Amino acid sequence: MQPGPADLDNAAGPAEWARAMTDPAAFAAEQEQLGHVWTFLGVAGEIPVLNDWFTATLGGRSIFVQRFESGLRAYENRCAHRFYPLRIGKTGNGPVVCGFHHWRYNAEGRALGIPKCIEMYGRTPRDIDARLLEVELAQCGDLIFGRFPGRQHCSLAEWLGPGHDVLSRFGTGIARPDSFSREVDAHWKLLMNISLDDYHIVAVHPTSFGKAGYLPPDIIHYAHFNTHSAYLPGGSPGTLEAVAAACREGTYLPERYRIFQFFPGLIVALIKAMDYMGDSYWFVLFQHLEPIGPGRTRSTTRTVPLPFRRKAGRVRTTIRAMTMPWMRLGFRINAVRIHGEDNAACEQLQRIASQAGAQPILSRQEARVGWFEADYARLMAGQLEPTGRIETFSGLDG
Ligand code: FES
Ligand SMILES: [Fe+2]
Repeated sequence: MQPGPADLDNAAGPAEWARAMTDPAAFAAEQEQLGHVWTFLGVAGEIPVLNDWFTATLGGRSIFVQRFESGLRAYENRCAHRFYPLRIGKTGNGPVVCGFHHWRYNAEGRALGIPKCIEMYGRTPRDIDARLLEVELAQCGDLIFGRFPGRQHCSLAEWLGPGHDVLSRFGTGIARPDSFSREVDAHWKLLMNISLDDYHIVAVHPTSFGKAGYLPPDIIHYAHFNTHSAYLPGGSPGTLEAVAAACREGTYLPERYRIFQFFPGLIVALIKAMDYMGDSYWFVLFQHLEPIGPGRTRSTTRTVPLPFRRKAGRVRTTIRAMTMPWMRLGFRINAVRIHGEDNAACEQLQRIASQAGAQPILSRQEARVGWFEADYARLMAGQLEPTGRIETFSGLDG
């Protein structure tokens, strides 16, 4: 007998985990909730000068982060007067003056310069007391995280757990990363899920990751910490903590590929580009996923070379200096290609996201997709505080 509509597990519409991928109201609700958890926004080294700013998206809202004399602060990118965007574009420099009627804000987000204020309103700016909505900020190394205040209370370090040590080691001193950015026609979770999936490599990356076939089960070691997770090939219970401890001491350099996914939208990978003339060229890659709409995400990738393990004399230093620009270029070309392959797969998933069933059939090498979706459901149910737990999974586990 052919299955009729009543047999379909999504006959009543997309499954709950996929609803925000196609339904604008569900997407808005998802983003409203996610705006209250620590979310990666950008890099402090990219706004080094007084009044430098960049815009970002948090909880589906445009915000801007700016360097004031008192330090970095962030506000919703919306004038209190008639709701014009205060910052237009991705980055810039200048005091906070609205382009619509020239209201001017101070570092505390208060409108203290209002043209013809007494004439127009019969009151002073202090009496009007208009303010911008402030975003709470915290830094881990150069990496800036933000959240709208009031709902989540943990510190950034508590939220990141052992990942805080990893991020502060590799997220420090990244003033001028190589970067590329594009918009992908897929919901942000599809991009996150594909990076958590080690089973797709043969089908989607046949000339790179998947060239040698599927990953052998005995090297698979996954760690789940709070709402985040890592793939640490060849690891065992305790590897994540050992990596974090070495990062804390400032001595850690990777010997194998490592990837960490931080909820909701930051992916950090330590990748060896190549061995050349006795040196290993390693890079750290940060992929930042910014949700724009139910089926649209901005993906920005920054890459930075890691220090070398061995000391170098004059000759080796010269070889490295000559080689590095080519390594950076080659690494970037590869990263663009591999992201492109993943993005294309995500765009296909997005096309029929409204048909997503209730339960995918996850393999052992997709264990982290299961963790991620369980965490997503927990957050959507209002449980925003970190669990403080670490669990692990090996490719040989049942
Ligand atoms: S909307 Fe900003 S000054 Fe009028
Ligand atoms: Fe991939």
